[in-house]
Amino acid sequence: MENIKDDILEIIKDVNDTKELYDIRVKYLGKKGVISELLADLGKMSIEEKKVKGPIINSLKQEVTKIFDDKNREIELKILNDKLKNEKIDISLPSTKVISGAPNILEKLIEEVEEILMSMGYDVVDGPEVEEDKFNFEMLNIPKGHPARDAQDTFYIEGEEILLRSQTSPVQVRTMLANKGEKPIRMICPGKTYRRDDDDATHSHQFMQIEGLLVDKDISLSDLKGTVDVIVKKLFGQDIVTRFRPSYYQFTEPSVEVDISCFNCKGKGCNICKNTGWITVAGAGIVHPNVLKMGGYNPKIWSGFAFGFGAERLAMLKYGINDLRVFYNTDLRELNNFDRKDAE
Ligand code: DAH
Repeated sequence: MENIKDDILEIIKDVNDTKELYDIRVKYLGKKGVISELLADLGKMSIEEKKVKGPIINSLKQEVTKIFDDKNREIELKILNDKLKNEKIDISLPSTKVISGAPNILEKLIEEVEEILMSMGYDVVDGPEVEEDKFNFEMLNIPKGHPARDAQDTFYIEGEEILLRSQTSPVQVRTMLANKGEKPIRMICPGKTYRRDDDDATHSHQFMQIEGLLVDKDISLSDLKGTVDVIVKKLFGQDIVTRFRPSYYQFTEPSVEVDISCFNCKGKGCNICKNTGWITVAGAGIVHPNVLKMGGYNPKIWSGFAFGFGAERLAMLKYGINDLRVFYNTDLRELNNFDRKDAE
């Protein structure tokens, strides 16, 4: 009996696994273990013997239990320490750089124009990209068979009536109808447009326009000019001069092309303005009475102006980009360049 403790200590000395320790523990303290058998033997002893051996066996049991408990704790602690040592984190290491995204430059430009126009009381509205011929052409004073349709050949979804819009101008009609000919309108609609074009540096089958429409009373070309002037000055600088050139659109009368003085050469002539000193940035005009009528507005009471900027053109000018495909080919090397440039 004396040797039991020493035997146990010797056996568990090199054990470093709790499962192995448990198995040894069972051999001594389990139901059929050595100590339990000693206790069972007590039953067969005389009272005197019991009085002597009982306490000895019981204290042996307690001591052995403690030996196993201590050893178990020791093993668990060692396992934890080993783990902590191996999982050490070196906080002095430089962190890995987290790459974050940046808004597309086209999106940035559009948001800038939105901000400018919202500050003048305009709402930013949306229209469908899959549009009806009725809104894209007919209600803009471009009936079936009109030659102006040739320049805006687009993609047809279903028959001849459902198409991908070739311009954002149909949103003018939709907005007028939504306001039921009763309320003044100030809206801009930036959005995607589509045409059957072969892609090159200056053409894309998908591009973006920023449409604007104002309907109120006694609106004239000078209101249009003042508005466009504010937009281009905010975008390109206070010294920019705006010029109107006569033009022709079916949904405006009179119609104009909006030119701005070249911000690069200040009008002297350079490759950006093709040596003319001027850059065309938008089509615009006074809303045609037919269009007002079809939109539910009485042209005897209401008048308005409309404009359409090419979003890519504005962004190309502002960021010095010379190929339209940059916006759509998602080459990060190119896009990253422009995002950093001029980032305010
Ligand atoms: N929708 C025309 C186009 O795509 C641009 C345009 C011209 C829009 C005159 C207008 C406008 O609102 O008044 O060529």
